[in-house]
Amino acid sequence: MTPTPVLKPLLETVLGRRQQRLPIWIMRQAGRYLPEYRELRAKAGSFLDLCYNPELASEVTLQPLRRFDLDAAILFSDILVIPDALGQDVRFEVGEGPQLEPVTADSIGRLDPKGALEKLSPIIETVQRVRAGLAPEKTLIGFCGSPWTVATYMINGRGSADQAAARLFALTQPAAFAQLIDILVEASIGYLAAQLQAGADVVQLFESWALNLDEIAFSDWVIEPNRRIVEGLRKLVPGAPVIGFPRGAAGNLPAYAETTGVNLLGLDYATPLEFARELPSGLGVQGNLDPLRLLAGGEQMDVRVRQIVTGFRDRPHIFNLGHGILPETPIAHVERLIAVARGT
Ligand code: CP3
Repeated sequence: MTPTPVLKPLLETVLGRRQQRLPIWIMRQAGRYLPEYRELRAKAGSFLDLCYNPELASEVTLQPLRRFDLDAAILFSDILVIPDALGQDVRFEVGEGPQLEPVTADSIGRLDPKGALEKLSPIIETVQRVRAGLAPEKTLIGFCGSPWTVATYMINGRGSADQAAARLFALTQPAAFAQLIDILVEASIGYLAAQLQAGADVVQLFESWALNLDEIAFSDWVIEPNRRIVEGLRKLVPGAPVIGFPRGAAGNLPAYAETTGVNLLGLDYATPLEFARELPSGLGVQGNLDPLRLLAGGEQMDVRVRQIVTGFRDRPHIFNLGHGILPETPIAHVERLIAVARGT
């Protein structure tokens, strides 16, 4: 007799099958709010060294699951490993955020899409190690940054409040910008397929800067590249489960949900619970607690967590934050969050 396969509640939910158990993970769950992360981080060298070290990166990936009753591990890496693997100079200075040597219309042609996957191979090894160390009912989430979001860093060289440099580049040098997006779409497809083949169950597309775009730019630079990634990925890995997280998409969310082909939609914390009615029926959602509510803790957090759980009761729902956990967040608040969300 073949043993019954163990179901993964989070993966099942992504596939549209709501589960008895409310699946939970926390955006940026491996990171600086954990003392065990800070300790390992101090020994690892640079942040990118840590991302490319399968032994340490797999350990960091598993740390939050040892502490909390979560349903998924998310690969420890960063969205900016793709520009790094394409040959752009990428640095993470402590306390400064990422710094890149900005690309120009001329330098885009010097990026090396062919060599990128080879450079990313240590991260694929991390995926294999994590899968081997993860209980069968836990989902392993792989990810990459979506092309627009990654391009904003590649063009501006660092984060910015309004992504004006990338928006202007797209408007004034459309051919070069389209070339950059094409390179990122292709690199992302190969990278995500490799993650799924190495043992990731689902992948998330982080479109962290989907805000500040008018509907034309949103359609051209968010919807279309994400749609191409989903389509291209499913040619390599049929049925590949994908979570899309277009942060700040606001009124553009329904078009994103209808057109990209993602299985489940991540909602930022500014999205009203009622707004889900505008989304295709049956489409699952993930989210969407404000990370500051988790940091602040107490009654206001409990109330909002219960509202979110109730508000999304009628569709597949993965409980999560509406953006990444903040480094100052007390561990006890995370424990409380999970208990309240599960109704215990
Ligand atoms: O548990 C996890 O989710 C860890 C894996 C992970 C990291 N970054 C590790 C990281 C993931 C999924 C990301 C995604 C990421 N990276 C995004 C999308 C999500 C979002 O927050 O919108 C973005 C925009 C980045 C780019 C990035 N990486 C920035 C802007 C920064 C500096 C700001 C910050 O949060 O520190 C990073 C650095 C980074 N990525 C750290 C970690 C743990 C901190 C660096 C360190 O520990 O030294």
